[in-house]
Amino acid sequence: MMKRDVHFILNGRPATLSVEPRTTLLRALRDWGVTSVKRGCEEGECGTCTVVVDDLAQKSCMMLALEAEGKSVLTAEGLVGPKGELHPIQQAFIEEGAIQCGFCTPGMIMTTYAFLRKNPDPSEEEIRVALAGNLCRCTGYIPIFRAVQKAAKTMRELGQLPGGAR
Ligand code: FES
Ligand code: FES
Repeated sequence: MMKRDVHFILNGRPATLSVEPRTTLLRALRDWGVTSVKRGCEEGECGTCTVVVDDLAQKSCMMLALEAEGKSVLTAEGLVGPKGELHPIQQAFIEEGAIQCGFCTPGMIMTTYAFLRKNPDPSEEEIRVALAGNLCRCTGYIPIFRAVQKAAKTMRELGQLPGGAR
């Protein structure tokens, strides 16, 4: 099948990928070497492929790569600082033991990233609802909810969320 170029911003840098029209964003990103984006169900059910597109959490298996034209795409790789510093969400997941096999983790983190920018001080119930589309077979979820609350607190204190330090 004929390939076409798609141009978008990937983790803050311009990217041009050559893709078939049927290629999903998930497959295009993985072919490009962005391996934090996990290929799970490819049916929109598990959330392991979640990335942030123009500030919204998006299951990349449910989006064609060509639909990313002109947009900004953020993955877990893009959260890491220039000297390899982990993002507060990544750090909180480690500190709270919210990672076991790790397969769900990048998707959880990207959903959390988009969610906290809209709700910087969420209740546990709100976190549960926000992460309802991300499945984890290992942790039992409780450490993940704790990690999201810890990350929110850290990000508020660092002024990284709307509402600033609290
Ligand atoms: S791989 Fe996209 S939701 Fe499961
Ligand atoms: S840590 Fe294994 S699926 Fe979540």
